[in-house]
Amino acid sequence: MKYLRVFIILLSTFSFGLVRAGEGMWIPMLLQYNEKEMQEMGMRITAEDIYSINHSSLKDAIVLFGGGCTGEIVSDQGLLLTNHHCGYDYIQKHSSVQHDYLTNGFWAMNMGEELPCPGLSVIFLREMRDVTEKVLTGINIDMSEADRQAKIDENIKKIVAAVEKETKYKVSIKPYFLGNEYYLLLNEIYTDVRLVGCPPSNIGKFGGDTDNWVWPRHTGDFSIFRVYADKDGHPAVYDKDNVPYKPAKHLDISLKGAEEGDFAFVFGYPARTNEYLPAVAVDQEANLIDPIIVDLRGKVLDIYNKYQEQDPKVRIQYASKHASIGNGWKKWMGVTEGINHFHGVEKKRAFEKDFQEWALGARNRYMYIDLLNQFEKNYKELEPYQLAYTYFSEAGLRIELVSFAGRFVKLSEVTKDTPQGEIDAMITNLKTRSASFFKDYYEPIDREVAAMLLKEYLKAQPADFRPDFLNGIKDVDEYVDNLFNKSIFTDEAKVNELLDNFNAKNVKKLANDPALKVYQSLIGFYRNEVYDHISSLNATIDRQRRIYMKGQMDMQPDKRLFPDANFTLRVTYGKVEGFKPQDGKTYRHFTTLEGIIEKENPDIYDYVVEPRLKQLYNNKDYGRYADKDGTMHVAFTASVHTTGGNSGSPILNADGQLLGLNFDRCWEGTMSDLLYDPAICRNISVDIRYVLFIIDKFAGAHHLIEEMTIVE
Ligand code: ARG
Ligand code: ASP
Repeated sequence: MKYLRVFIILLSTFSFGLVRAGEGMWIPMLLQYNEKEMQEMGMRITAEDIYSINHSSLKDAIVLFGGGCTGEIVSDQGLLLTNHHCGYDYIQKHSSVQHDYLTNGFWAMNMGEELPCPGLSVIFLREMRDVTEKVLTGINIDMSEADRQAKIDENIKKIVAAVEKETKYKVSIKPYFLGNEYYLLLNEIYTDVRLVGCPPSNIGKFGGDTDNWVWPRHTGDFSIFRVYADKDGHPAVYDKDNVPYKPAKHLDISLKGAEEGDFAFVFGYPARTNEYLPAVAVDQEANLIDPIIVDLRGKVLDIYNKYQEQDPKVRIQYASKHASIGNGWKKWMGVTEGINHFHGVEKKRAFEKDFQEWALGARNRYMYIDLLNQFEKNYKELEPYQLAYTYFSEAGLRIELVSFAGRFVKLSEVTKDTPQGEIDAMITNLKTRSASFFKDYYEPIDREVAAMLLKEYLKAQPADFRPDFLNGIKDVDEYVDNLFNKSIFTDEAKVNELLDNFNAKNVKKLANDPALKVYQSLIGFYRNEVYDHISSLNATIDRQRRIYMKGQMDMQPDKRLFPDANFTLRVTYGKVEGFKPQDGKTYRHFTTLEGIIEKENPDIYDYVVEPRLKQLYNNKDYGRYADKDGTMHVAFTASVHTTGGNSGSPILNADGQLLGLNFDRCWEGTMSDLLYDPAICRNISVDIRYVLFIIDKFAGAHHLIEEMTIVE
């Protein structure tokens, strides 16, 4: 018996040393190829349990949430969990100074109190199929890109039309491996999704933008929704008579937590990675473009902060904008730092040297030998246009007045021949947009942002490569004052009056509005000077990247490569584990409620702790949600490869039970979209026990816990 144990320990150390996955975002229908490795790492279920089209499987509980995040179903009543930051927009839309759900949280105490969220949808993947061969029928490597695309489009159209006849689901086909493979997806889209609950921001966003992208972390980043269907369980537009959706599968929830070294996997919708880029592109992104965006956004955020601190109304108005601008700002800072610190460009160059040697090693590799040269040349050529695009979007369109005015371009172009029906439809649409724009608009912020951005724009872009309006500016401050004083788009009453009494005279007034003119000048510049160059260079680059991808696959036939993320469902797996970000520094894999109390600072918005949470902490009133060490675990890290879009994804244990919700990555590893390093790239999840503790003990929403399947 004793010997047997030693043997088992040896065996498992051996296989632990051997198997250290982490990198990879795998296609669920092909998971049988990973199954052995996953089981060696500790998984106790099968690939079929995760993805199956023959019986219910975990995939039936996973959704693309709101087009940008992941969510999972946790009850047979369609109850759904995702991150607080994924539900944020919807929480914000229901919030006002009177009903400040951002600050105070929201809990529906019965289904009748749940809040409809117009515009929110969730998408279930019902099935996927490999259609590579059919899509690439009639394609060969010597075809021009245009011919190739035309043929592919034609093939796709045919395949989709044929499948549409046999299914009620939405059919689409997406490229994988940069167009070397194609998969067909059958999706079902539910559009009646209601807000059920969310914690106050000082739990759901604890640490705010200060802690964002950083470990150790103490954010209770979750919110709760419910999916509704018609009486037959089919998707339906919102109707108060709709009923809770009954899923084929909902996730079991584990109260056991996870130990260092435990197998874990994430199942969700990673949006975009670029793991196979050439060095020159990584260098351009990390060392040229990202730093500019970081600088511009940093300056915008400073202005937001100043005004948000002064006025609670402005704080709410700019909360969502701040979070989304700030998120990219901080991430790209981390990408640059990570790529440089861990010599990402040099690593890519070293690989390219091997690739080049390999390409020269056999005659039938002729299509690969000039690729790297071509990349150098084409990315260099792309550079000025990339810069122009960056300023156009980050400095030009960032001015809210200008992008809002841009919405009225079509209306400013109506003539006496435009059908009245069309005009009416535009007006209705613009009224809605205008109401939501002004709800969250604070002119003094926008003025200051505009002056700052235009100065930066002028400083950075050469006079012969700028939108015309910029070259006409003598004094930026004066120009901005004039712009804001003269445009009608700063004034809700004026905009409404124009929309209410729309006539020919207004068309002229609109067309001459200075903000609309700035928008036209920006767009005109982009269309005439930038767009064509970017798209034709990108078409060439995309072709070369596709061939380079194929080359990398040919060169490493024994290495299992994964396709870059493309907003389709993926499985990624690794271990629950901490890491060593720097010499002499080690991160433990979990944080606890103690850390929240440690960070507490009533004077800093991001670190205010709810009195009720403190009370629960003081009484150690954790119920069955405490870890066996007696503390309340809040968040944990794992070596699982994730990216944007994976937010809200379930992180599951060896039995496929819910351990937590993925919501972020560690600062040191944000470069993982370009280069994944298993030693330092970690994803961050909120521990499901903390989520349940907040729902149950903090909010008293015990009825929601009752709905769930909890495994003690
Ligand atoms: N960094 C995470 C992700 O990319 C979370 C962002 C939301 N949190 C925040 N403080 N802005 O989206
Ligand atoms: N926070 C990201 C999201 O919103 C996840 C990540 O980038 O790691 O999807």
